[in-house]
Amino acid sequence: MSDIDVLLQENRRFAPPGHFSEQAHVNSWALHQSAAADMEGYWASRARELDWFTPFTSVLEWTPPRAKWFTGGTLNVAYNCVDRHISTARRNKAAIIFEGEPGDRRTLTYWDLYVEVRKCASMLKSLGVQKGDRVGIYLPLIPEAAIAMLACARIGAIHSVVFGGFSPESLRDRMNDAQAKVVITADGGYRRGQVVPLKRNTDKALEDAPSVQHVIVVQRRPGGLGDESFADMREGRDHWWHRLMAHASTDCPAEPMDSEDVLFILYTSGTTGKPKGIVHTTAGYLTGVAATTRDVFDLKDDDVFWCTADVGWITGHSYLVYGPLANGATIVMYEGAPDWPDKDRFWEICARHGVTVFYTAPTAIRAFMKWGDHWPTRHDLSRLRLLGSVGEPINPEAWVWYHEHIGHGRCPIVDTWWQTETGAIVISPLPGITTTKPGSATKALPGYTAELLDANATVIPTGGGLLALTRPWPSMLRTIWGDDNRYVETYFSKWPGRPDLYFPGDGAKRDDDGFFWILGRVDDVLNVAGHRIGTMEVESALVEHPAVAEAAVVGKVHELKGQALAAFVTLRTGFHHSSELRDELKAFVADKIGAIARPDDILFSADLPKTRSGKIMRRLLRDIAEGRALGDTTTLADPNVVAGLKEQYESQE
Ligand code: PRX
Repeated sequence: MSDIDVLLQENRRFAPPGHFSEQAHVNSWALHQSAAADMEGYWASRARELDWFTPFTSVLEWTPPRAKWFTGGTLNVAYNCVDRHISTARRNKAAIIFEGEPGDRRTLTYWDLYVEVRKCASMLKSLGVQKGDRVGIYLPLIPEAAIAMLACARIGAIHSVVFGGFSPESLRDRMNDAQAKVVITADGGYRRGQVVPLKRNTDKALEDAPSVQHVIVVQRRPGGLGDESFADMREGRDHWWHRLMAHASTDCPAEPMDSEDVLFILYTSGTTGKPKGIVHTTAGYLTGVAATTRDVFDLKDDDVFWCTADVGWITGHSYLVYGPLANGATIVMYEGAPDWPDKDRFWEICARHGVTVFYTAPTAIRAFMKWGDHWPTRHDLSRLRLLGSVGEPINPEAWVWYHEHIGHGRCPIVDTWWQTETGAIVISPLPGITTTKPGSATKALPGYTAELLDANATVIPTGGGLLALTRPWPSMLRTIWGDDNRYVETYFSKWPGRPDLYFPGDGAKRDDDGFFWILGRVDDVLNVAGHRIGTMEVESALVEHPAVAEAAVVGKVHELKGQALAAFVTLRTGFHHSSELRDELKAFVADKIGAIARPDDILFSADLPKTRSGKIMRRLLRDIAEGRALGDTTTLADPNVVAGLKEQYESQE
């Protein structure tokens, strides 16, 4: 509990600067009050900020745990993010300012985007993609990723973006689960000066993904990446993006979509080995992301908004692509690592493009802190006016550093709590009105109701409990692709008999002002550098290795990543532990899932601590991994196992 106590002793307060409040979109609490008094009316008015082909006839149909928002209406997400700006002064405004890791730069205006999205949509149609078909997107963070997403939205195809850092096997599993017809990839992308061989990974994934009929390959750099083998094109199946686009027609009207038509599937980790395909639909999702982008980031027409997330994550979907573009904003998109070629790359980009609103993750902020103040000091960050944080709890120390060294004491910070499943930000300060406390995501935004509940669904006004969203919201997930039971079980079964209560899987504290302090996951899901990884996923990967009999994976506190993975492994007879095998297993997991899932520690053990009924006691393994005194061991079948393990773990470090 010590972390919680520390958080609650945080007495620093940061009121919004007067000059900020005066110009802010939201500058009074009246919005919260009116939204609370008439939640449906509030969301209906936000939905009406979008362009509709046919107006909706009903705001919410709620049969717990199923919600339908804005039924009877038709609209198109790409139309709202692109076409509607063309008839305004935004026509020639920069939509995407792109910078590649090697330093190449491109700016696409809204007009450019309008041309590219229509051509890409025609290209997909020419390959037989129809409304409702699934399209996999496995690209580096380059403008084509946003173009491809919007092109799918334009014709009603369902995209499923897979993060470029994921392995061929992860791509294969996702494409099979979604039964994708087309995959859009690139010959490669850049990360820390190396080429990530996305096309080769795709070829490997597609050895066992029979639903995929076509692969479109973006040439990452004109003239290729200097090595033919990065794109070994297969006759009939593979097509160069630039060749098809050269002949693609701009004549491709935006398909009128029903509000509840699926917009995308995005896979995320859960408590089983199989990732969940989170399903988001059209109108509710766009309403949620457009409204929260405008209010939380206070976006104005002259802002330059940089959300550093990759499109492979929900943050990239909602606050790099859909939310900002629906608002007609200028976004910055950067392909590579923050420390390439040097540790001031982000600040150099902020200065060069005059970034005004900057949104990143605590894991990055902790790395910046560690690298030292002299890196940001070298650059002119005076255009910045607002900072954001997302993905994991931000420790007050990192918050204050961010405020001082990046925001120069001038920029409010919005610590935004949300999830892949919520689609949009739920708990966050509004920068013109909220007096923030470092480490607290503060309060639910207008239109959302968050509470802390105990096991009996009783509200806990102050103290610790389980976070719950007690009313449906427009951008909530609608189901898990192909596994509706899992949707009900995972999110709406925490409180028996209350299918109206959404359980996000997080624990939190609430202070006397009603502010939330998110404490992290209460299930077997870890948050490593702001990314969700299920312990089961890593365990399943480990036991696929021929040497491994059994594996248990737990999280341990990590200075930069927040949490890191520690694996306890028992070997099959005939195999012997060695540092080579340890390295091999780490590489094996990275290869199976992706580098983000590589365990930091692997401990070989003859036995794992189990209860008499055979359940592995992960709680004790966590105590070991984090160097704590062991908790209660009386329920163990053999208490000696855990004592031996602890000794072994400590002697290894
Ligand atoms: O545990 C919470 C943590 O990240 C989880 C959601 O992960 P994901 O779906 O990958 O989305 C990340 C980006 C939205 C949550 O259940 N989390 C996210 N934001 C915060 C956070 N924890 C504390 N504070 C936050 N601001």
